[in-house]
Amino acid sequence: MIIAHGGAGRWEHYELKEAVKVLRRAVEIGVNELLKGGSALDAVVEAVTLMEASGAFNAGRGACKDSSGGVSLDAGVMWMERAGAVAHVKATWNAVKLARAVMEDTHHVLLVGDGADSLAKSRGMPPLEHCQSTSSRGVVDTVGAVALDSQGRLASAVSTGGIRGKMPGRVGDSPIPGAGFWVAKRVASCSTGVGEAIMMTHPCRMTSMLYEAFGVDLPIAVKASCEAVKAPCGVIALSIEGGAAAYTTADYMPISVATEEVVEVQVLEKKCSYSKRLAK
Ligand code: GLY
Repeated sequence: MIIAHGGAGRWEHYELKEAVKVLRRAVEIGVNELLKGGSALDAVVEAVTLMEASGAFNAGRGACKDSSGGVSLDAGVMWMERAGAVAHVKATWNAVKLARAVMEDTHHVLLVGDGADSLAKSRGMPPLEHCQSTSSRGVVDTVGAVALDSQGRLASAVSTGGIRGKMPGRVGDSPIPGAGFWVAKRVASCSTGVGEAIMMTHPCRMTSMLYEAFGVDLPIAVKASCEAVKAPCGVIALSIEGGAAAYTTADYMPISVATEEVVEVQVLEKKCSYSKRLAK
């Protein structure tokens, strides 16, 4: 099973329509990976790659611009007690695959700037030139996905262009483990929203702690973690027990959830919870 979001924020109606279509395709691709025998990591990376490639979100090809008109990307992935992340990437739109390369092929967790760009170039990754930033995009934020595979392994992935008009060099929460994404033993999550507030709260780590250490129900753990962030935020999560949950304090957050049997897409409104117990 897989859950994905297209970013918490003040979505325009026409943008939401497009985003919802892409989100559906993203979880379908993720579930197909799982059905082919792929891992939860394959599923989240493929789902997020599709969202990056679409240009419909503030990530990858659709990333917002900074105050000097430049574009830089952040992304992170985690699974099996390992994490990989990149920040301030300018060499490729496919930041989530670059984060995966950091996790799998280096002994580091986070590569930034020139170092991350060199790794992208050495891999022949597709360049960022095709960026199609729009003026309105950027009041929405970050894409992410969380998946559970047939072996009970969880993975989480996020990718973002950051916040519109950010200072050149600014990095948000998305590449920071515990803040933008986290995978614990029984629950995995990722977040979206104002990075400066999320970095000070670590809602993903908080969700795991509430669920695993304190036995809080998943929807309540997700809601409490999200509300602890003192700015608009959204969190999605999956547990190995088959629970899925999402919550946002932003105006809207489109989400999609897929299992072998069903694909569901919803636009969550401010302070509305999504929760479901999925057949594993
Ligand atoms: N949540 C993404 C960012 O603030 O950069």
